[in-house]
Amino acid sequence: MKNYIIDNISQLVTCSGFSAKHGKEMSNLGIIENAAIVITRGIISYAGPYSDNLPMDRLEDYTTIDAEGNAVLPGFIDSHTHFVFAGYREEEFSWRMQGDNYMSIMQQGGGIYNTVDATRNASFEELTAIAELRLDSMFAMGVTTVEGKSGYGLDKDTELKQLRVMKELNKKHPVDIVATYLGAHAIPKEYTEKTYIDYMLTEVMPVIREESLAKCCDIFCEKGVFTAENSRYFLQAAQKMGFQLKIHADEIVTTGGAELAAELNALSADHLLQASDKGIEALAKSDTVATLLPCTAFSLKKEYAQGRKMIDAGCAVALATDFNPGSCFSSSIPLTIALACIYMKLTPEEAVTALTINAAAALGKADFIGSIDVGKKGDIIILKYPSYKFLPYHIGMNCVKTIIK
Ligand code: NIG
Ligand code: FE
Repeated sequence: MKNYIIDNISQLVTCSGFSAKHGKEMSNLGIIENAAIVITRGIISYAGPYSDNLPMDRLEDYTTIDAEGNAVLPGFIDSHTHFVFAGYREEEFSWRMQGDNYMSIMQQGGGIYNTVDATRNASFEELTAIAELRLDSMFAMGVTTVEGKSGYGLDKDTELKQLRVMKELNKKHPVDIVATYLGAHAIPKEYTEKTYIDYMLTEVMPVIREESLAKCCDIFCEKGVFTAENSRYFLQAAQKMGFQLKIHADEIVTTGGAELAAELNALSADHLLQASDKGIEALAKSDTVATLLPCTAFSLKKEYAQGRKMIDAGCAVALATDFNPGSCFSSSIPLTIALACIYMKLTPEEAVTALTINAAAALGKADFIGSIDVGKKGDIIILKYPSYKFLPYHIGMNCVKTIIK
């Protein structure tokens, strides 16, 4: 593992902190001007004003990287994706553009079920190769940690295959992967909601725990998929088994998913397009991060989640891409930032917090990543520009020049 000095930083955006930032705190980026960073054996050992005497053991053991007067930030964290899948659904996209509806396509056996068939038929090697290319393009946009969900197998073998692909890629790819079990993504045709929940809890999840294949467990709590009541039962059992919780909550209709996430102390409640005022209030009072996915609303032509209102109410908001083959076939961080600022009315400062320290908290990793603080992993990005304010302004374009991982 190499040691680095990064100097000539005009604007060091530290995002300093070790837990999620709520409400007004999200505006504080902990900026240091004319700064330097020292990374020793992969860990940040100094981050502060530049001086001729930076603290380090032996200068000859370090490689110097000149930031050339540009802004430097923590690596982005994409805390909600479904990047391990086979097959595509380009037909479905064009049907939707002509007025078809996402849920009705699924209820007719397409949508998620379509990807399930393709993913069941793909080999471990095929899935690994395609997912690796996807990680490469995320990395190029400055993503240094990504969350990935299973959920395109539903049966035990394919769910385990997806999770094992992530375990393998975590070893060989620079991007760190946090895996989430999302068996509760749809109900296989041969089960009812109840019998499928029992199958997951008794047949699949004990193996996942035994082999440490996933840190988190997620459920699609939605009208026509899993009810809030069954989601509570399932997630409480998952929590007892040692999983940390995430919920696809209040995406298409209001089901009380936001309240449920807060009640169960979930790491995050995700989507939240239809979260009620009560749900927003419950999240604001809790440690559960509200993870918003603007590219999905854009792709589905839906109203955006109420980001501004959530931050004003005191929520800790994170942003993520939701990269998947159906509702959002895009892993674009630049587009995520632009949409969040333009349509959800986040400020550039809030968007940066939402993709760094708050995203780290949404993965239960705020102690280790998500900010440029001494003791954290040296996951750093150098922009092509002198200020973080270029991130939303350079719409849909990659502002990242160099990634240190
Ligand atoms: O987060 N809403 C459910 N799951 C994914 C979409 C999955 C798919 O369409 O393949 C989502 O949008
Ligand atoms: Fe999702």
